[in-house]
Amino acid sequence: MALSRLDSLYMAVVSEHSKSPRHHGSLSGVEKLELHNPTCGDVIELSVKIEDNVITDIAFDGVGCTISTASASMMTEAVLGKSLDQAQELAEVFSQMVQGQQNDKQKELGDAALLAGVAKFPQRIKCATLPWNALKKALERSVSAE
Ligand code: FES
Repeated sequence: MALSRLDSLYMAVVSEHSKSPRHHGSLSGVEKLELHNPTCGDVIELSVKIEDNVITDIAFDGVGCTISTASASMMTEAVLGKSLDQAQELAEVFSQMVQGQQNDKQKELGDAALLAGVAKFPQRIKCATLPWNALKKALERSVSAE
């Protein structure tokens, strides 16, 4: 069965982000947030630098599958330079998207919008949402620390 153009694009972009993840590593002087995927044990460690309510730097590390690594890379690109409110909104848009709900703001996710197809594979939704859930927790922590 031939792959559709969208499926081919999805596979190429996911593979590229997974092999050469953006913002991979750790930020010094920033409290880290660690989150596990309970279904497989994979873990993401997220560092988010926030200044004046804006994400001014972000990095991730850990052990994850192709989808979670690509999703983390895409997430860092999508939220860098965004306000906390904008980043929280993008995290919600992403969560809805991978559960099959369309949203006008999906295009603001950048490459992460290509993960919409994950909705067809329920067992991979947790992989795709792991980094975004880590982001939500990091943002909640920063708000409650104010
Ligand atoms: Fe563990 Fe995807 S299989 S995060």
